[in-house]
Amino acid sequence: MFPKCWNFIIIISILLSLQLGDGQPFDYPTANLSTTWINSVSANHSVDFTDGSKVVWSANRNHPVKINATLQLTSGGDLVLRDADGTSVWSTNTRGRSVAGLNLTEEGNLVLFDRNNKVVWQSFDHPTDALVPGQKLVSGQKLTASASITNSTEGGLFSMFVNNEGLFAAVKANPPQIYYQQLVVGTKANKKASYAKFQNGSLALYIHSSEPRDPDSVITLPQISSAQYMKLGSDGHLRLYEWADGWKEVFDILTGYLGDCNYPTVCGKNGICSNGQCSCPTSVNASMNYFKPINGRQPNLGCSEITPLDCNASRYHNFLELEDMTYFTFNADITSTNMDSCKQACLGNCSCKAAIFRYGSNSSNGDCYLPAQIFSLMNNEQDKTHYNSSVFMKVQITPNASAPAKTSPKDHD
Ligand SMILES: *[C@@H]1O[C@H](CO)[C@@H](O)[C@H](O)[C@H]1NC(C)=O
Ligand SMILES: *[C@@H]1O[C@H](CO)[C@@H](O)[C@H](O)[C@H]1NC(C)=O
Ligand SMILES: *[C@@H]1O[C@H](CO)[C@@H](O)[C@H](O)[C@H]1NC(C)=O
Ligand SMILES: *[C@@H]1O[C@H](CO)[C@@H](O)[C@H](O)[C@H]1NC(C)=O
Ligand SMILES: *[C@@H]1O[C@H](CO)[C@@H](O)[C@H](O)[C@H]1NC(C)=O
Ligand SMILES: *[C@@H]1O[C@H](CO)[C@@H](O)[C@H](O)[C@H]1NC(C)=O
Ligand SMILES: *[C@@H]1O[C@H](CO)[C@@H](O)[C@H](O)[C@H]1NC(C)=O
Ligand SMILES: *[C@@H]1O[C@H](CO)[C@@H](O)[C@H](O)[C@H]1NC(C)=O
Ligand SMILES: *[C@@H]1O[C@H](CO)[C@@H](O)[C@H](O)[C@H]1NC(C)=O
Ligand SMILES: *[C@@H]1O[C@H](CO)[C@@H](O)[C@H](O)[C@H]1NC(C)=O
Ligand SMILES: *[C@@H]1O[C@H](CO)[C@@H](O)[C@H](O)[C@H]1NC(C)=O
Ligand SMILES: *[C@@H]1O[C@H](CO)[C@@H](O)[C@H](O)[C@H]1NC(C)=O
Repeated sequence: MFPKCWNFIIIISILLSLQLGDGQPFDYPTANLSTTWINSVSANHSVDFTDGSKVVWSANRNHPVKINATLQLTSGGDLVLRDADGTSVWSTNTRGRSVAGLNLTEEGNLVLFDRNNKVVWQSFDHPTDALVPGQKLVSGQKLTASASITNSTEGGLFSMFVNNEGLFAAVKANPPQIYYQQLVVGTKANKKASYAKFQNGSLALYIHSSEPRDPDSVITLPQISSAQYMKLGSDGHLRLYEWADGWKEVFDILTGYLGDCNYPTVCGKNGICSNGQCSCPTSVNASMNYFKPINGRQPNLGCSEITPLDCNASRYHNFLELEDMTYFTFNADITSTNMDSCKQACLGNCSCKAAIFRYGSNSSNGDCYLPAQIFSLMNNEQDKTHYNSSVFMKVQITPNASAPAKTSPKDHD
């Protein structure tokens, strides 16, 4: 639930909230040009969230406005949000595009339409972190998770998007690291934009095909019996909620057979996830530690380096070997290689934070990934992954200290 002060803040940020009153008719706002709404506790269409309303879309997400802010559908057809002091903070920029009026549709789409009832602008084209039934996530758009459960400001860490290859969820890094993908094979022949559509019972991917044809692929969801929405959470989960005397989570859409450990921040940076428990990387030998919990009481916050990596002292770089460990994403930087070449390549590149080596049964013929940023790691359950995997975390050794277990110090300049 939102703290009290948000009630007004969010409402005037043009709030669309899904609501399912028992038999209560919902009053969907419509407006002609030159209409102004003022943000106040008693404003029409104001929602206080005590009825279970949830925010599924908001404009101006990052700069909430105050009491007495105004939302105006101008005579020129622009929808403008001004803060209490009159400064314009958001607009649809639809002036001069023959807007005739505004509707909030039953689906939850805020629409500016022209004299022919054609859509000029719609909130469905500007998704925030949620989708409602009937809504599409089109190639070029993305869902961006909020900073936290109580703070709807864009966190920027997790996003979901569709492109010509499928549906993806990524965590922000340079380059972004993909933690979920639903790929559609083949090459795209049509020129139509690819999209995912939230339908009754599925999230349908239209990549090579488009409606009314069948989707290329579907993610099966529980069927809609009352009302639903899905939201990309600040932890990277895409959850499906359904109304049944209150909103209930009915499905965790991106969680696959690797479970919660496959989420990038489940154990924070450098943390290890094992059966839902978090710990910090330790050397096999335990004579020397390179990572410590950021907060001993909250192991899920991750681990920090005891001695930060220093590129100017790369001769004192070495590896902490984590056997049978894997990572939620893998982009082979080097293919058909062995463990040693993989490690050498990481030592030779200051941006590399770990060497991740995967192979089947021939350890001389594996793939090597050299990520520049490390989120949570997880134990490699071979029966599920069907590969061997080791992670070598790059660490800074002090000149006098002995090398981590299983590796020998090497000079690198
Ligand atoms: C908008 O204008 C039309 C035509 O003048 C009128 O019938 C309708 O009631 C107006 N709607 C609102 C919400 O004011
Ligand atoms: C609320 O809506 C009603 C009916 O549409 C209207 O008569 C009233 O003036 C509105 N109140 C405010 C504060 O806008
Ligand atoms: C909002 O505007 C009204 C009327 O101008 C004023 O009385 C009230 O103090 C303002 N509220 C806030 C919180 O600024
Ligand atoms: C807007 O709402 C009015 C009244 O509900 C409806 O007649 C009209 O078709 C709607 N227009 C659009 C573009 O949804
Ligand atoms: C919400 O999160 C943003 C981004 O992390 C932060 O800048 C802002 O201070 C937070 N707001 C509140 C009320 O905590
Ligand atoms: C969704 O599909 C199921 C099964 O076909 C049906 O019972 C249900 O009424 C549908 N829900 C909506 C909101 O159309
Ligand atoms: C590394 O060396 C460069 C150039 O000698 C210097 O500018 C930089 O400050 C050094 N960085 C650190 C962390 O010592
Ligand atoms: C892992 O490697 C060993 C030999 O090093 C091999 O016997 C085993 O089959 C491999 N596991 C998988 C899942 O490929
Ligand atoms: C393992 O892979 C290497 C490199 O590709 C190859 O030379 C070697 O023959 C392979 N060994 C086996 C047992 O297949
Ligand atoms: C070093 O690694 C970074 C990130 O992994 C990569 O972008 C860059 O091209 C690499 N540099 C060299 C010289 O290989
Ligand atoms: C490393 O060894 C030298 C000489 O034995 C000593 O003076 C220095 O304090 C040691 N440094 C660390 C970090 O232990
Ligand atoms: C652990 O370190 C000790 C002392 O540095 C060494 O004698 C021992 O062989 C190491 N054990 C392993 C498994 O590397």
